[in-house]
Amino acid sequence: MYTDLKGKVVVITGGSTGLGRAMAVRFGQEQSKVVINYYKSKDEALEVKKEIEAAGGQAITVQGDVTKEEDVVNLVQTAIKEFGTLDVMINNAGVENPSPSHELSLDNWNKVLDTNLTGAFLGSREAIKYFVENDIKGNVINMSSVHEMIPWPLFVHYAASKGGIKLMSETLALEYAPKGIRVNNIGPGAMNTPINAEKFADPVQRADVESMIPMGYIGKPEEVASVAAFLASSEASYVTGITLFVDGGMTKYPSFQAGRG
Ligand code: BGC
Repeated sequence: MYTDLKGKVVVITGGSTGLGRAMAVRFGQEQSKVVINYYKSKDEALEVKKEIEAAGGQAITVQGDVTKEEDVVNLVQTAIKEFGTLDVMINNAGVENPSPSHELSLDNWNKVLDTNLTGAFLGSREAIKYFVENDIKGNVINMSSVHEMIPWPLFVHYAASKGGIKLMSETLALEYAPKGIRVNNIGPGAMNTPINAEKFADPVQRADVESMIPMGYIGKPEEVASVAAFLASSEASYVTGITLFVDGGMTKYPSFQAGRG
């Protein structure tokens, strides 16, 4: 537990499911005030809120599409109105929708870029604007992926969005470091979340992915949530502009294991 997270106002986009849900629950356990953004899954968002409240925490849910500027503005403003301030903005909402690149429609490309990259930009911008105007040494965490560095055939839009997040966060980190605002990325590898449920339900595909992970197992959402808590806490007070990979070693060229190559 990171005691300084108690009472901090934390907004999490895509907070009703997957990694977002795990982070919401973790910040709830830290006794933070959690703002759970959801797009369509209202019931799941309310479940997360209940879970946080059962653990003695506070939470609200806010519907919003991160690709819409007015929705992101409303999300941040609602957090400030309901809980009095904003301390941590976690831009987590993301989608992936594979297609061979030569057949990828512009709509599909735009949907993934709008959600993963533009959504994260809008959330970062709104949070940083509030931090600057109110002299708050706030914190932005953007959800990247191992695919900010590993190219991924059939996922060119997804990889492009995560590569974009890498330099977006690094640039924002540099720009606002003098004000004490920290901006970092988390780069998950293969995690046990609904986005991957179908793939990992198939034992052959699961074993194939596991063979690409030096630690040998698909990550648990809680293993990302604990890193988010660390980055948001003052224990990470001198950390900005990094991607902290949470990937069981996936980015370390596993095909070279055992001296191959
Ligand atoms: C994707 C997962 C994938 C993992 C490793 C993540 O960014 O969301 O679907 O399993 O990268 O390739």
